[in-house]
Amino acid sequence: MKTITISETPKHVGETVKIGVWLTDKRSSGKIAFLQLRDGTGFFQGIIRKNDVSEEIFEMSKHDLHQETSFYVTGEVHEDTRSKFGYEIQISDIEMVGQSDEYPIGNKEHGIDFLLDNRHLWLRSRKPWALMRIRSRVKLASMEFFDKHGFTQFDAPELTGSAPEGTTELFETDYFDRSAYLSQSGQLYEEAGAMALGRVYSMGPTFRAEKSKTRRHLMEFWMIEPEMAWMHQEESLEIQEQYIAYLVQDLIDNCATELEIAGRSIESLKPFTELPYPRITYKKAIEMLQEAGMDAKFGDDFGSPEETFLADQFQKPVFITNYPKEIKAFYMPIDPEDDRQVICADLLAPEGYGEIIGGSERAIDNEYLAKKLAENNLSMENYGWYEDLRKYGTVPHCGFGMGLERFLAWITLQDHIRENIPFPRMLNRLNP
Ligand code: 4AD
Ligand code: MG
Repeated sequence: MKTITISETPKHVGETVKIGVWLTDKRSSGKIAFLQLRDGTGFFQGIIRKNDVSEEIFEMSKHDLHQETSFYVTGEVHEDTRSKFGYEIQISDIEMVGQSDEYPIGNKEHGIDFLLDNRHLWLRSRKPWALMRIRSRVKLASMEFFDKHGFTQFDAPELTGSAPEGTTELFETDYFDRSAYLSQSGQLYEEAGAMALGRVYSMGPTFRAEKSKTRRHLMEFWMIEPEMAWMHQEESLEIQEQYIAYLVQDLIDNCATELEIAGRSIESLKPFTELPYPRITYKKAIEMLQEAGMDAKFGDDFGSPEETFLADQFQKPVFITNYPKEIKAFYMPIDPEDDRQVICADLLAPEGYGEIIGGSERAIDNEYLAKKLAENNLSMENYGWYEDLRKYGTVPHCGFGMGLERFLAWITLQDHIRENIPFPRMLNRLNP
């Protein structure tokens, strides 16, 4: 007899199969028991009738199967028109594998702290299951997108000697007789990669020692960082919007069940597949904020209320371009149109989710970079190699970083990005 998974049951209607499962819930009345089952690939129902199984098995199903008990079920696959999934199994035998008694997470409401303390178990529940599948799909679709657009995957180191996004948010660690820092961004290395391979991207964990407790910040998050040689900002924005639209369409096509469990309707996602996304300058954004009576002036960084207001005006992701240089990173080039600002763009997600992408053109003038490094107290010792990229055949280039969990929280409508990563690292949480 064939051992299959729940996801494969539609191909086995009428056949007797064996599946390894965990129990999520159980209901029994007299001569029949309904077992709610999961196996990692999906969820469905098993039915045990007293007359179909031995006395011993029927008694076991009543007394020994508890939430998260693991066992093999054998039985015939049937269509089940009453359930969403559409299939169920009529059980003829059960083989116990692992007992589970008094599983801490019940089918009732629990507080978030309790759930996060039990994250290693909570991951088995339906919503985390859906969120993890969506996350996995987005990483796969990202690889597909960049492959189709001529990018080479290029891994940046996680242990670094430098700080691309500012020296205040670094996790420092011993590195033999000196210090190393956990990577804040792979960007500078991607720039080296772009000069070697043209278009590259990295996808990996990123660390920020930000003492912020907002629903948009993690200490460890994943970033997808493409870098493109021979490119100016307008073309980079086109790639960015195509990338986001591609991810959304891919989820619509491949994760309908998971999106529904997460509480996100397909209909509400469709507008985000329509391009282009609006672009407004930072200056225009300031005007819009002022017109709405908000307290904003040139030079201010946007907080969550400002970002939410701006994105709400469009009901779509919106690019805010060319921010003041004071609030952006050292590697961004001055805008020739107004030297108070740099050539960069943030992509703000609608529905209150704020910045999901930060990107820019890259300064290629070494004199300018040397000045910026000095201003930012960044040492030549660590950045000499970065200047070499300009010294030897520099070209215009652009790149951006998408925060994976920020994107996911938006798509799955989570209040906080912590549920979009398997084991979130937060200000007060390093376990499990
Ligand atoms: O805007 P950021 O800091 O940009 C960079 O690091 C660039 N070097 C990227 C590049 O051009 N290659 O970060 C990029 C994105 C943000 O837009 C946000 O989505 C996410 O990373 N992000 C965070 N996500 C979760 N928790 C945090 N603490 C984050 N900080 C940034
Ligand atoms: Mg940013």
